[in-house]
Amino acid sequence: MERDANNQFPMALSSSVIVTIVFIGAVCLNLALASGSCVDLDVTGCRTNPQLCQDPLIAEVTCPVMCNRCPNVPQTTQADTTADCSDLLKRGRSWSSGVYTIVTWKTHTTVDVFCDMDTDGGGWTVFKHRVNGSVDFYQNFSSYENGFGSPHGEFWLGRRLLNIRKDISNSNMFQYCFKLIGLRLLNELTSRRNHTLRIDLKAHNGTRMYDVYDGFSVGAGSNYTLHVDHRVDSLHLPYGHLLSPYHDGQPFSTYDHDMDQHSSSSCAITYHGGWWYNGCYAANLNGRYFVNGFPYYTGMVYMPFATFESVKKSKMMFK
Ligand SMILES: *[C@@H]1O[C@H](CO)[C@@H](O)[C@H](O)[C@H]1NC(C)=O
Ligand SMILES: *[C@@H]1O[C@H](CO)[C@@H](O)[C@H](O)[C@H]1NC(C)=O
Ligand SMILES: *[C@@H]1O[C@H](CO)[C@@H](O)[C@H](O)[C@H]1NC(C)=O
Ligand SMILES: *[C@@H]1O[C@H](CO)[C@@H](O)[C@H](O)[C@H]1NC(C)=O
Ligand SMILES: *[C@@H]1O[C@H](CO)[C@@H](O)[C@H](O)[C@H]1NC(C)=O
Repeated sequence: MERDANNQFPMALSSSVIVTIVFIGAVCLNLALASGSCVDLDVTGCRTNPQLCQDPLIAEVTCPVMCNRCPNVPQTTQADTTADCSDLLKRGRSWSSGVYTIVTWKTHTTVDVFCDMDTDGGGWTVFKHRVNGSVDFYQNFSSYENGFGSPHGEFWLGRRLLNIRKDISNSNMFQYCFKLIGLRLLNELTSRRNHTLRIDLKAHNGTRMYDVYDGFSVGAGSNYTLHVDHRVDSLHLPYGHLLSPYHDGQPFSTYDHDMDQHSSSSCAITYHGGWWYNGCYAANLNGRYFVNGFPYYTGMVYMPFATFESVKKSKMMFK
């Protein structure tokens, strides 16, 4: 009797998962805010939403058996792994901007990132987004290495899944536990091949700007050195190169990790940010958020665009 019950348990679990898979509505791609913590989620099935099985998190972790049984969903292999948002484009269908799960190319870490699928052909992996000052970017070095914020709001990079626990009192609910991940992930993501960096800004008067560089990468820790080659495109930028050469080749500095070229003081402290400071900045996009744009000099500044203003929105992404 005891033995039969034990033998049946996997079957019972498996059929309850099937029920879950078939009947529950789609929310898995809209994970709520979690800063190194856990969120409770309804689980969605691949039969009602086959697209979910293309999400490695769900296909590999939540319901591997179910996803492989779904029609028209290929088994995830090394070759079709989504290593960044640009890989989604290769799957030959349209994708909307939002949070997607990727598996990094080198350490095979499963991580959620925000993908911009609208700007200039889409496929951009967004690693920094600021819109309203809800997240404080005056963070220590460890926070920049490990990431902060939420991929759904303001953030510095992505979110790694730690584990999933099933809620035994409700078969539809799973608890997903996350850890945020920052410069360390950016180093891995940008060292796969030659990447393009794009910066999008919006001024308080509504004017938009973008600046695009090729040859983008972020070096290994603990320096996380910025590399950019040449500007390849821009809008509303009246003069010369900026990130390159001024910030190109600089290590990342924070208030507790001064790697800048300024001999007598810390640029991160003086200008209230974490950045690839030289001595000190032409761009300070992790500076203080000012609701009205002033005083600009410790703010979110990009000098060729808005020299005397802390901009309203900033986004940094690569593909
Ligand atoms: C860095 O900041 C985080 C978040 O505020 C904090 O938990 C952590 O202890 C700090 N680390 C160091 C080394 O100061
Ligand atoms: C700031 O923007 C984020 C992302 O759009 C939003 O979730 C948050 O509620 C906003 N916070 C404030 C204070 O407006
Ligand atoms: C990246 O590619 C661009 C052109 O596609 C090239 O000009 C540039 O030198 C390359 N950079 C690196 C670091 O390979
Ligand atoms: C880190 O950057 C400093 C200053 O630019 C440099 O002296 C040092 O060699 C770098 N370390 C590594 C491991 O690249
Ligand atoms: C809007 O703000 C930007 C950045 O400060 C500035 O370059 C531009 O001239 C302004 N445009 C207008 C119409 O005021």
